[in-house]
Amino acid sequence: MSRILPIEDETAIDEAVRLLGEGRLVALPTETVYGLAADATSGAAVAAIYAAKGRPRFNPLIAHVADLAMAERHGRLDPLARRLAERFWPGPLTLVVPAREASGIHPLVQAGLPTLALRMPRGAARDVVARLGRPVAAPSANRSGKVSPTTAAHVARSLGPRVDLVLDAGAAPVGVESTILKVEEGRLILLRPGGLAAAEVEAFAGLAVEGPGAGRIEAPGQLRSHYAPHGAVRLDISDVEPGEWLVRFGEAPVPGEAAAAGTRQLSRSRDLGEAAANLFAILAELDRPDVARIAVMPIPEEGLGAAINDRLRRAAAPRGDDRDEAFGD
Ligand code: TXA
Ligand code: MG
Repeated sequence: MSRILPIEDETAIDEAVRLLGEGRLVALPTETVYGLAADATSGAAVAAIYAAKGRPRFNPLIAHVADLAMAERHGRLDPLARRLAERFWPGPLTLVVPAREASGIHPLVQAGLPTLALRMPRGAARDVVARLGRPVAAPSANRSGKVSPTTAAHVARSLGPRVDLVLDAGAAPVGVESTILKVEEGRLILLRPGGLAAAEVEAFAGLAVEGPGAGRIEAPGQLRSHYAPHGAVRLDISDVEPGEWLVRFGEAPVPGEAAAAGTRQLSRSRDLGEAAANLFAILAELDRPDVARIAVMPIPEEGLGAAINDRLRRAAAPRGDDRDEAFGD
């Protein structure tokens, strides 16, 4: 099992900083999901992240920073990127920008790309990065292809002894990963919908957020990634088939629900923020051999619904025969 320290413990932050300084792996709570952190300037430490997750090395990592100055040391933020950072950081937004040459970030973090993904998280993760004084690379703290962890227990279950320490700050308040935007010549390209609604960015920037270009692989991790639970997942259901687990959004009656194997609720009041916060815990709980089929009620595509539906579509995507082939973030 992994070692877990609550952030209320006065040694917790120090211990995390000490371990990261030694090139070890520490799971840190952020407002979105728990991250598996390593010193972003150490090749050995970053390599250990890929190994612990079973993640292919061509899938780059997000560098987490404590302040704007740290971000600017490693990435080139144009005026648009800087405005977004000033408005939405710390928070669930990752900006993909041109990387500075020889900035100290180990090349494995970018997986060979000329761009760098930067994010300033809210919560204990930011305190740790500030004290360390340099960025940490941190993907979600799950084995590749599994749902991202929103609790320390979920991290411990997924990674076990592969992580040296887990800081426990309770359930992650946002519950889905950050929104990833590529900022390119005054344009904003959405690489991954996430915890910050695209409409909020558009309203602030006075600019449309574009989808990724047709046929171009923009966020390598988005390629075939899915969050596959054991059972098959059916979306936008209007009825329940006998033996299915029902994932509810709201309290409207669903035909056939009396024959459901069980029921879980994303949000009784149909609150998308609450549904996002509950999503991965429910998917993780239902990821077990005795849950053969999962039926999910329709979720509106607005606001955080875009991120929720994106994750659900991955969970429902057809799978290859070879489960090891599947990869994700
Ligand atoms: O909320 C989050 O973003 C969490 C917490 C821990 O911060 N992190 C997270 O990291 O979700 P990860 O590694 O699970 O997902 C990062 C995604 C991947 O799809 C990766 O391909 C993409 O970001 N990415 C990283 N660097 C990139 C780059 N330079 N260009 C395009 N995509 C990039
Ligand atoms: Mg991930």
